[in-house]
Amino acid sequence: METRVDPPGSGGRDTADAQRRVPAAPEDARGPELPYPSGWFCLALSRELAPGRVLTRRFAGEDVVLYRTGDGRPHAVRPYCPHLGAHLGSGTVEGGNLVCPFHRFAFAPDGTCVHAPGGPAPRARLEHHPLRERNGFVLVWRGHDATPPAWEIPEAPAADITPTAYWTADVFTHVQDLAENAIDYRHLPALHGVAVEEIAPPRAEGPCLAGRLRMAPQRLPAMKKLMGDYSYALAGLGYFRTETSLPPLGLAIHMWAMNTPIAPRHTRMLVAVACTAAEQPQPSALPLLRRPLYRGVARAMLWAAAGALRDDVKIWNIKRYEPRPRLAAGDEAIGYYRRWACQFYPPP
Ligand code: FES
Ligand SMILES: [Fe+2]
Repeated sequence: METRVDPPGSGGRDTADAQRRVPAAPEDARGPELPYPSGWFCLALSRELAPGRVLTRRFAGEDVVLYRTGDGRPHAVRPYCPHLGAHLGSGTVEGGNLVCPFHRFAFAPDGTCVHAPGGPAPRARLEHHPLRERNGFVLVWRGHDATPPAWEIPEAPAADITPTAYWTADVFTHVQDLAENAIDYRHLPALHGVAVEEIAPPRAEGPCLAGRLRMAPQRLPAMKKLMGDYSYALAGLGYFRTETSLPPLGLAIHMWAMNTPIAPRHTRMLVAVACTAAEQPQPSALPLLRRPLYRGVARAMLWAAAGALRDDVKIWNIKRYEPRPRLAAGDEAIGYYRRWACQFYPPP
């Protein structure tokens, strides 16, 4: 087993010390609420945002308007028109510009107002959110100020893999609690009936944190032979990616859990799964059957994951955030995760 190291910048402090570095927030019966973290968060699937489409998504207490121009490029802007404040979510994409529905002022992809019917365009511009598209997800940056994104989501090893099965849930807890679930090994046998073995402890590298586990249902230990190791990687608190394999079937399962803060104690979770060959498929391996097989396996894995997550959601929806958890032996990964997570909050 590898040695655990403290995340960069944590200085090896304990969890309570680290949590004191997170700004205090209003407290109610469910304890203190954490502020919104910075980072990249998924606001849509690429396939929802066809060229010419305009979408409004709720994100950290505000609306964000997403649109895609005819050249295929996606954009994210603040929702209110600088002219008289109409909501651009009911605007249209015309000739590469976003056109406001109220007086039809047109805004170029860089945000500049380039056309106003009946006169010269005013000196006005739309404010853009930094946006990235990865593996079929549209992600928007949230910072604590207007500075450019401090980091990028690492390219997944298979950049061309896009999921084929999806599940979403509204969860009434803070986004930090959702990713903590993967690091909280103790709940896996207790709540999900899954035996877990830590193969590589969580290891942080700046905004990313990764580790490896071995899991098998407690009632079906023989499944251990079917399943390979489960590696997970977090990039900030909103992007969680796992990869596991089914060696006897030669299949790899890629799963994403994209957790997006919607409002205080309201997170939208999107779980998406893709199945691929573990290695390059042989030319003789019945190519016509491969696609439906991959889709079917992805659906089955999503169904199993959603079943387990429904049990988590019941806990999350009424739990409180414990800023000074009484961690026990075996909970070290949780303390490590919380110290790492401090970097996404503004300084107190
Ligand atoms: S409010 Fe948008 S053009 Fe007038
Ligand atoms: Fe869980």
